[in-house]
This record gives sequence, C-alpha cells and structure tokens, in this order.
Amino acid sequence: MNMENARREFAGLDAEWAYFDNAGGSFTLNRVIDRVAEYMRSTPVQLGGGYPLSQQAAQRQADAVRRLAGFINAAEPREIVLGSSSTALTWQIARALRPTLRAGDEIIITEIDHEANRSPWLSLADAGVTIRTWEVDKENFALSLEQLQRLLNERTRLVAFAQVSNVLGRIEPATEIVRLAHAAGARVFIDGVAHAPHRQVDVQALGADFYVMSLYKIFGPHLGMLHGRLDALLELGNINHAFLPADALPYKLQPGGASYELAWGAAGIVDYFDAWPNAFTDIAAFEAMLSRPLLDFLSTHPRVELIGPADSDPAVRVPIISFRAKHKSSREIVQALEARKLAARHGNFNAHALLHACGIDIDDGVVRVSFAHYNTMEEVQRLIAALDEVL
Ligand SMILES: Cc1ncc(COP(=O)(O)O)c(C=O)c1O
Repeated sequence: MNMENARREFAGLDAEWAYFDNAGGSFTLNRVIDRVAEYMRSTPVQLGGGYPLSQQAAQRQADAVRRLAGFINAAEPREIVLGSSSTALTWQIARALRPTLRAGDEIIITEIDHEANRSPWLSLADAGVTIRTWEVDKENFALSLEQLQRLLNERTRLVAFAQVSNVLGRIEPATEIVRLAHAAGARVFIDGVAHAPHRQVDVQALGADFYVMSLYKIFGPHLGMLHGRLDALLELGNINHAFLPADALPYKLQPGGASYELAWGAAGIVDYFDAWPNAFTDIAAFEAMLSRPLLDFLSTHPRVELIGPADSDPAVRVPIISFRAKHKSSREIVQALEARKLAARHGNFNAHALLHACGIDIDDGVVRVSFAHYNTMEEVQRLIAALDEVL
C-alpha cells in the first residue's frame, strides 16, 4: 500500500486542514467505524446466554481479542486486558499489584513519563513502597542506563517507563532496560502509547511484564489495551468481584468489562495492517522523511529550542516533535498555526515532571507537532512555511 492509498482509509481527513495532533489522538480507520456500527446492529445482546445470538456475540469477542493478541505477538489471548484507556489500565494494574508489595519494596519511575505512568505507582507509597525517580538529563533530554543501574537493587519490584515520551519523541532502549531490570529481579511496566502508532509491537521479543497502549492513537476506537505476561498477571491481586480466583484472566483485572463493540471494531486495525506487508517498515521510513525537513528547520532556527532529538533517524525517534520559541509563547504559535488551518497543540501533555525538570512553564508548555503516516509532505511544507512567518 502506498501512503496515498493509506490516507483514503481514514474518515475526516480533508485538504483544507492539516492535522498534526496525532499523538493526542489519531483519525479513525473507516473499517473500524464500520465494524463498530455493524456489531451494534447485528449482535446487540449480552454475552454468556445459551441462545444463538449471545453465542455469536461471545464468539466475536473471543475472535477480536485473539486478533488483537496476534497483532502484538502475545503468547495467548488471556494475556490481553482491555479497558477504557491506558491511564485506567495502569491504575488497575497498580491496584492489583498493591497486595503483593511489602514495606521497603522499591519502584522506579521516570521523569520523562506521561503522568499516567507515574501517579498510579506514586499512589503505592502509602503501602510503604519507596518510589525512586530515574531523572532526565536536562541538557539532552535523555535517560541514562548508568543511572538506572545505580537505582536498581534487590528491593526493586518494578521499573515503569515510556518506550517513547509523548513530548520528546525519542525511542528509549526498551530491550536493554528490560534486561537490566529483570537481571535485578524486578518486573517491567512499559507505556507504549506513543510508540505503538509508529512501530511494530512485539511483546514477546521485548520481554516486558506489562505493556500498555491506547487504540484511539493507533487509528482505532477509544479503548486501552494492556498486555501482561501470564506469570506476571497470575501474581497480581483481584480487583474485580471478590469471589474470582487468581487465575480468572483477564476478568480479575477488568472490573466492569470492556466495550464489546469497540473491541470488535478495534480488530479492524489488525485487518488494516494485515493487508499491508511490512507496514511498519514503510511507515518508519515515510515518517522519518516527513520529519527531516521540520527537524532541520527547527534545530537550526536561532529563536527556537527543540525539546528532543534533532536526528530524524527512525532508530532514534518517532515523529513527535516539540519545541518552544524565545520571544513567542507556545499558545501564540499554536493560535497562529490554527489561523492557517494547521492543527497542532501546546501545553504540558501531562508530562508535568519532564517540563518541571527542564524549567518549562507548565501552562504554556511546548508546541507539539506529531505526524501520522496519513500526513503528506505537502502538509509539512505548509507547516514549515507558516512557522517561518510566525517564529
Ligand atoms: C505516552 C502516553 N502515555 C499515556 C497516555 C494516556 O493514555 P490514555 O488517554 O489512553 O489514558 C498518553 C495520552 O496522551 C500518552 O501520550
């Protein structure tokens, strides 16, 4: 599939506005929308009944979860937990982890993470758990493995980090982090939200214990998806009905269940990528090509500070590009872009700790421009021309 054909798969994209807020939420695949509507028309019943329509609905749910599990190479569908969002799922795992913790245990969180992967772990401090912060290098916005090694010890129970920060766009060395954490006997929770729309996720190759992503940023519906390794999930407490046994997966971690129609719709994401051999290789190369001129422009502009790596190499970053200007507020810049029908966003993107550490105003924050593979080079050129006028 070429990128022009890919663009036709999405509802709502038009030639007038260029949308660069994709790390906030992506556009939705037509086939996802169709599947949601079709599910609600054809199987509008509760699961678990003996009558044929209920059986069909149950079959569809099992099929959707099996397909989503296959999409990220989970070992089995029982390892998939669905929820309303990544934030909600991370809180659910933190709650389920609580009964397994002892006073004196330690959890490592990072300064670069979205608050969704910090607050749930910070909430465990009242169980006597010490929360240690893996700090960002304020000069180059990087996390260092040496610092992680200094923080890890025999009391570390969990390391929680973002594979890609939703502000910096840098790809962290996740496999290496997992290896170091496991060598210290700790579990690993990865926030893959900003990574998953841009690269193939292979949870078995990665080897983390938990991996969370937001399907509404991967061209699907408003649904969060969490993968947990079976042994890690079995170890967790039950946060659902009190009578459920420890091996009731995923139910013990899914209080209230997940939306059936959205789960069925989400399998449309899998259809889309299944029909496109090497999709993520193509996407990585295309998005790097889109990013290069913008990164070159921003990193050499005398009145701009780029917040994140200047390198467009797809091994280094995804197309989430943040910056601020010396004499203009981020708000003014975004408003000027909007006046030119260019949709970007400014603020702290719930990465309070990162902005705080870097001395950036929490309210005005940074300007963030984020591409998806349905953006075009023509749109990027429009953006650069507008920034040239505005900055
Ligand atoms: C990196 C990252 N983690 C977590 C979240 C929270 O995701 P959700 O909106 O599904 O709760 C976001 C949302 O923007 C994010 O960008």
